[in-house]
Amino acid sequence: MTAAVTVRPVRRADLDHVIAIDATVTGLEKRAYWQRIYRRYGIASIGEQRWFLVAMADRKVVGFLIGEVRDWEFGSPPCGWVFAINVDPGARQAGIGTRLLESLSGALRQTGVAKLRTLLHHDNTLILSFFRSQGMMAAPLIPLEMDVAPAPSPAAEAAGEAAR
Ligand SMILES: CC(C)(COP(=O)(O)OP(=O)(O)OC[C@H]1O[C@@H](n2cnc3c(N)ncnc32)[C@H](O)[C@@H]1OP(=O)(O)O)[C@@H](O)C(=O)NCCC(=O)NCCS
Repeated sequence: MTAAVTVRPVRRADLDHVIAIDATVTGLEKRAYWQRIYRRYGIASIGEQRWFLVAMADRKVVGFLIGEVRDWEFGSPPCGWVFAINVDPGARQAGIGTRLLESLSGALRQTGVAKLRTLLHHDNTLILSFFRSQGMMAAPLIPLEMDVAPAPSPAAEAAGEAAR
């Protein structure tokens, strides 16, 4: 299958297939989200260093990848990030994910960026196995998060004022 696979920038006509693959994998159809992503990454100009790539086999979209260069964020020199990769479940383990990641690495190499990073959920052993197979190792970064407390309701605020 790998020989017949090509990787190219996404086109608007591919979006329905991308949305369908994502919905199959995640169980959620997010059409508005994908239209925003297409506007941001699918029609980005070359200088913007953003990539929305699709893998094609038999003229059908069988996978996609989205990545970009982030400059000096998180205190890091310009660095490539891959933040979405998905291969149609019926087309997996045939080298398509590898081809997609190689295409992004090639594009990064051309822009002079020498590091590629990603972030994954620790329960997702499939994506971890894939990225490890591509040579990715634990990075010297720590992801942190916190809950943002909801704004107090007007009634609670009024009660607080009255108690003062
Ligand atoms: C991860 C994923 C992109 C891999 O795509 P793929 O086309 O099957 O990958 P490849 O065929 O290029 O596999 C490359 C290597 O990845 C690893 N790998 C792939 N599938 C694997 C599996 N099911 N179990 C363990 N390792 C696996 C293997 O090391 C493989 O090399 P090998 O074929 O020599 O054993 C695909 O499984 C997928 O889309 N998974 C869901 C992704 C996801 O969760 N996305 C959400 C977060 S962005």
